[in-house]
Amino acid sequence: MKAAVCYEKNQPVRVEAVTLDAPRRNEVLVRLAASGVCHTDLSVITGVMPMKLPGVLGHEGAGIVEEVGEGVAQLAPGDRVALAWVTPCGCCFYCRIGKANLCELGEKINIHHRMPDGSTRLHQDGVDLSVFSALGTMAEMAVVPASAAVKLPEDAPLDKAALLGCAVMTGVGAVFNTAQVVPGSRVAVFGAGGVGLNVIQGAAIAGAERIIAVDVNARKLDFARSFGATHRIDASREDPVQALKELSDGRGVDYAFEAIGRKETIEQAYASVRRGGTCVVIGIGSYRETVSLNVFSLPIQEKRLLGSWYGGANVHHDFPRLLALYRAGKLKLDELVTRTYALEEVNQAFADMTEGVNARGLILFP
Ligand SMILES: NC(=O)c1ccc[n+]([C@@H]2O[C@H](COP(=O)([O-])OP(=O)(O)OC[C@H]3O[C@@H](n4cnc5c(N)ncnc54)[C@H](O)[C@@H]3O)[C@@H](O)[C@H]2O)c1
Ligand SMILES: [Zn+2]
Ligand SMILES: [Zn+2]
Repeated sequence: MKAAVCYEKNQPVRVEAVTLDAPRRNEVLVRLAASGVCHTDLSVITGVMPMKLPGVLGHEGAGIVEEVGEGVAQLAPGDRVALAWVTPCGCCFYCRIGKANLCELGEKINIHHRMPDGSTRLHQDGVDLSVFSALGTMAEMAVVPASAAVKLPEDAPLDKAALLGCAVMTGVGAVFNTAQVVPGSRVAVFGAGGVGLNVIQGAAIAGAERIIAVDVNARKLDFARSFGATHRIDASREDPVQALKELSDGRGVDYAFEAIGRKETIEQAYASVRRGGTCVVIGIGSYRETVSLNVFSLPIQEKRLLGSWYGGANVHHDFPRLLALYRAGKLKLDELVTRTYALEEVNQAFADMTEGVNARGLILFP
């Protein structure tokens, strides 16, 4: 089968034949229908996101179960599934306190990009391949931990469901689960890419009064409006902090979300929040960078600075809930996909992401 393999940093990904082992105990084999293209995949290529190379990219996918390994009772061949990039083990400290997005097993997988036992099911000419989040959705098929495959209704649209796996869960989840935005709030969203657009639509669903999109790309600001942004700020033309203050009675916004992953924009997001307001950081920046906070104003301002990992997801509950919102016409998924690609066009998809062409690019498998 074919997969998009990243061999070297800052080099094109190569779509090549690889060998996939059969699913072992507590694993399932999934035939992918679609894989989204997330900035975090691009960050593996640019070196911001550490992963031992060579490895297969992709962590936003949905497909159909083809085979189940020993001990898998909750899934059967033919089931439609969306894949979760934090595998919830169900029994660690974090799973027990209801924070499955911080699962210890999921974290271990995301450090090593291997199966829970440290092995990999993907190889090429005898070389073991890393597999992003133990999913590797930029491939025709994937063997994944069974608990990372979230069962969907029999008629679930798999192309749309793929997006739930990262952009939608991360963006909408940051609003619902992390920040818990209350109706009537004023919300700023830095970065109107695949994740940020979902923060915007999450804030709209949550009943925010003002949703102010901040981006440096006019096309993204147009997308932002169609996802529910009431105001738009082009940060390449004006100071976003000043502009946000002006849009919020000089006080600052109730919530600011950063969905870019840069020191400057995290500091801007924090600065644009009112006293007692909440700044949520979603973007993943370089581990070499540090944000600075003024120690005098930190307590006086009483702002909350929150990280948000995978939108605080409880995937087995949240994926079906988000799909139901889509079917009720309340969550936009069709509009997210501005262009689809064949797997062979994966480098074009990354180039388009760098150029800021799409809301979300989606790889479709025949
Ligand atoms: N925390 C998590 O769980 C999680 C999950 C998925 C993705 N991410 C991270 O979220 C970030 C966004 O991912 P994405 O897939 O939406 O990326 P994307 O490339 O689609 O979107 C990024 C957006 O930021 C805008 N931007 C860049 N520089 C800017 C600036 N200085 N000011 C304002 N806007 C600016 C771009 O124009 C673009 O629209 C990435 O860092 C990604 O790694 C985090
Ligand atoms: Zn992602
Ligand atoms: Zn766990």
